[in-house]
Amino acid sequence: MTNVEPTSELHTAKVQRAPRPVTTPDTDLFTAMPPAMALHEVILLLLGVSVGALAAVIMLPTWLPGLSASLFGEAPKAYWQLARSSAMIAYALLWCAMVFGLLMSNRMARVWPGGPLAFDLHQHTSLLGLAFALFHALMLLGDHYIATTPAQLFTPFAYSGHAPFWVGLGQVAFYGMALIGMSFYVKDRLGRRVWQWLHLLGYVTFLLALVHGIMSGTDSGNLWVQVIYWISGGSILFLSVYRVLVRHF
Ligand code: HEM
Repeated sequence: MTNVEPTSELHTAKVQRAPRPVTTPDTDLFTAMPPAMALHEVILLLLGVSVGALAAVIMLPTWLPGLSASLFGEAPKAYWQLARSSAMIAYALLWCAMVFGLLMSNRMARVWPGGPLAFDLHQHTSLLGLAFALFHALMLLGDHYIATTPAQLFTPFAYSGHAPFWVGLGQVAFYGMALIGMSFYVKDRLGRRVWQWLHLLGYVTFLLALVHGIMSGTDSGNLWVQVIYWISGGSILFLSVYRVLVRHF
């Protein structure tokens, strides 16, 4: 009889001292893990990207035309090059976000890099990818050849330049990334089921971004860019099939 209390205290002490599990299944991470970045940090990041990009494409050529011409030339290609390079970074970050998400859901994250770290990396890469995608779109405003407006850039399928349909797919992918990125902050209100459905949108978003890049990008003709598209697309297909097999067998 007198043994009961000390034993339960000992048990409690053991539970409290237990180390944080490294291989938590993704279902537990839903409730256990807070957003990797505070909401105000994400808003500041997106604002910083917007203000910086707009300053570079609108204010610099208008207020300091001499400096702008000496830096970029009379018909600047720098904005176009920045748009293309940031596009590839945004795509790579979106791919990383997909990989870490899939590693959690097909349980490979237990082997590497561990559930909580995969969850953190999943969120960071998807939010940074969103910031780079925003920068990619805004840089196009500075390019004289593309010559577009903010309204055309951010209204899906409103772009009237080269390959408007394929650019439209990228615009939809942008809003998909924004929706999924913001869902981390309302996941408790959404509930697990809605949140999981929303995350399935990630597959559509990735596919749209991949097709957008291949069909509208200047660099799709380059061998190294084709290799990137094949490896990234193939790896997502492999991890998705593995996920289905793990869940059903
Ligand atoms: C508002 C949204 C978007 C707009 C208006 C847009 C527009 C464009 C345009 C006009 C191009 C062709 C650039 C060129 O090579 O001349 C392009 C290429 C590309 N975009 Fe987007 N895009 C958007 C969103 C996205 C998103 C969300 C991603 C991926 C996360 C993305 C990834 C790419 C890639 C990888 C290329 C190919 C770059 C190259 O081959 O040089 N874009 N985009």
